[in-house]
Amino acid sequence: MTPQLPSIIIAIDGYSSSGKSSMAKVLARRIGYRYIDSGAMYRAVTLYAMRNGMILADGKVDEPALVAALPQINIDFNVDNFNQRTLLNGEDVEDEIRQLGVSSNVSPVAAIPAVRHALVAMQQKMGESKEIVMDGRDIGTTVFPDAEMKVFVNASAETRARRRYIELTEKGVETTYEAVLENVVGRDYIDENRAESPLRRADDAVDLDNSNMTIEEQNEWLYNLYNSIINKLA
Ligand code: DC
Repeated sequence: MTPQLPSIIIAIDGYSSSGKSSMAKVLARRIGYRYIDSGAMYRAVTLYAMRNGMILADGKVDEPALVAALPQINIDFNVDNFNQRTLLNGEDVEDEIRQLGVSSNVSPVAAIPAVRHALVAMQQKMGESKEIVMDGRDIGTTVFPDAEMKVFVNASAETRARRRYIELTEKGVETTYEAVLENVVGRDYIDENRAESPLRRADDAVDLDNSNMTIEEQNEWLYNLYNSIINKLA
């Protein structure tokens, strides 16, 4: 009989476009865990705000209106051939939430304490039965401070902007490298400096700077880390 492996929670945090989602997804598939992209949840709330006139002309968020609407915002995921599709009140918005318009408005939305409280509560519920890989900014610090495995991913802003630019143009989104770099640097600043659970490395996280690593090397690195943690727990 094969011994039962311990079930754990895997928290992968890091800067935007650091490649954490791709690695997290591959690991989840490899070990049969559920994968949750928590950034998609902040993006879905942002799309809701944009559609309902809650992003003002100066880019500020109509916070009272959005907070009042939170009980009407339902976010869920569909799994399609191992790919997570984000549902906003039942509608598949996966493609729309990746557009630059949402990317430009998401940081101020994610800085609103009531938005964070609502989404963190949903995320903690998703992790109740463990066997989950979740990526984001505050997963190892706020959502799952007791996660058995925590990784903090980083790469230079230029490397991340280059990757994101290629990804967007491949999807047919018209933009420039400079616009993407500006967006990446701007989001880093807001994510790191917001009062409510800012982007911060958990003290017990393992660091990964993947600026000079191939995707395959990152995937192996993550899988090896998982195995070493599981072996220690078994
Ligand atoms: O990972 P991403 O770029 O899709 O995240 C979108 C935004 O959501 C990003 O600007 C930061 C925010 N975010 C957050 O504040 N907390 C998380 N756990 C995940 C994302």
